Amino acid sequence: MAIQFLFFSFLVFLFNDGVFSFNPDLWLTPNSIPRAPLYDTGRQSSHEQIVFNVDHYGAKADGIDNSEAFKRAWEASCSSTSHSSVLLVPPHKTYLLKPLELQGPCEAKNITVMIKGNLKAPSERADWSREDLNYWIKFKNVRHLTVKGGGELDGSGQIWWQNSCKINKSVPCLDAPTALVFHRCEQLRVRDLTIRDSQKFHVVFSQCANVKAFHLTIRAPQWSPNTDGIHVTGTQDIMIFNCLIGTGDDCISIVKGSKNVYVKDIVCGPGHGISIGSLGKKNSEAHVSNVLVEKVTLIGTTNGVRIKTWQGGYGYAENIVFQDIFMTNVSNPIIINQHYCDSRKPCYQQNAAVAVRGVRYKNIRGTSATDISVNFNCSSTVPCRDVALQDISLVTPHSFASRSSCINVHSAEAGTVFPSCNGIKNQ
Ligand SMILES: *[C@@H]1O[C@H](CO)[C@@H](O)[C@H](O)[C@H]1NC(C)=O
Ligand SMILES: *[C@@H]1O[C@H](CO)[C@@H](O)[C@H](O)[C@H]1NC(C)=O
Ligand SMILES: *[C@@H]1O[C@H](CO)[C@@H](O)[C@H](O)[C@H]1NC(C)=O
Ligand SMILES: *[C@@H]1O[C@H](CO)[C@@H](O)[C@H](O)[C@H]1NC(C)=O
Repeated sequence: MAIQFLFFSFLVFLFNDGVFSFNPDLWLTPNSIPRAPLYDTGRQSSHEQIVFNVDHYGAKADGIDNSEAFKRAWEASCSSTSHSSVLLVPPHKTYLLKPLELQGPCEAKNITVMIKGNLKAPSERADWSREDLNYWIKFKNVRHLTVKGGGELDGSGQIWWQNSCKINKSVPCLDAPTALVFHRCEQLRVRDLTIRDSQKFHVVFSQCANVKAFHLTIRAPQWSPNTDGIHVTGTQDIMIFNCLIGTGDDCISIVKGSKNVYVKDIVCGPGHGISIGSLGKKNSEAHVSNVLVEKVTLIGTTNGVRIKTWQGGYGYAENIVFQDIFMTNVSNPIIINQHYCDSRKPCYQQNAAVAVRGVRYKNIRGTSATDISVNFNCSSTVPCRDVALQDISLVTPHSFASRSSCINVHSAEAGTVFPSCNGIKNQ
């Protein structure tokens, strides 16, 4: 309630005053944007640091599976009583890895996985069993974990894409692995890595807390199905910044149970843009709140900044800010869709809906690939509330015009807003 009050009193302030001085601390908790230095100073304090090189545990860059060797090296680094232990993947080599789960909690106070070399997933689906089907590399229950090193993780996803029911309509829909999963990790840093051609999502943060993900490059072809760049679920206090993401699905997707999410300095495309949702699938409950997305460039994506919910769900998406966003040839630059339907079967009309409220769009400019550049398709029973637009300019390159479609939305506008929702009757 307090957060909501702050947010809306801020909106009132903003629109009365016209001065822009947004301070995310107003509604992100003080701890949510960690203030530790971004870069290591290179100094290792007086504490000891012990390095566990995977090669010393039997890893070989010769095209044979290395998951057992990596597991042994992980056991050693995790159970080390040193202040800081480092699992090292040496540079200039490529290690083949079958699905690998690395579990905590660890004895080591800090654990760094230094991936200097490259990791490659097998290209055969037979290397996955039913139990490990949802990951390629998974970290679980680890605190004070840093994963970095400049290396590349290659998911070899082609075989999974070809056999996806989204590509071949005659095959059944099966799950596919996420390249890099962090589950229940706290005080997590993931940085300076390239992740490419994942089987499904590239990086997932699931039920994590206090996360910084930055300097990541994520690449997959535009046609690859479900290859979201970074997927955030059930995670609190997460900051994602300075990333280059181009895939076949959302660059960043933020779904249920996520709170205090700060996304900044992202270049996205190709792909489906930055998404909150989908939320409320199969009549489920979902809560997402306090999301700030700023300084994002989107190039040729099928959506820009999107909120999507299924009919029949419960819960809310609230206190969401998209600002300082530049788009080039984006198909649905600003979109809220409370009638999202991605299933094979058509979705039927339902009255319940995940509420969408307190969404602000500020300083969003660029070109739209379609005529409708602002599209609020909200529920007639649970309309979108407190939607604010300020300083918007979205045009189509050929006509320098574009339209808005604003259905069941209570919106306010300030500054120059083009296209505007004003003058459009809510249905
Ligand atoms: C290591 O762990 C301690 C607490 O266990 C933490 O305060 C510190 O920031 C961690 N990181 C490094 C790089 O030492
Ligand atoms: C689609 O799947 C069917 C059934 O497995 C298979 O026979 C067909 O060759 C596949 N099509 C393509 C284009 O891969
Ligand atoms: C803009 O996007 C549309 C739809 O994705 C695409 O067909 C078209 O080639 C793109 N135009 C340019 C100039 O990239
Ligand atoms: C809103 O969504 C519904 C369901 O997908 C669709 O039938 C309708 O055409 C959409 N309205 C607009 C104006 O896009």
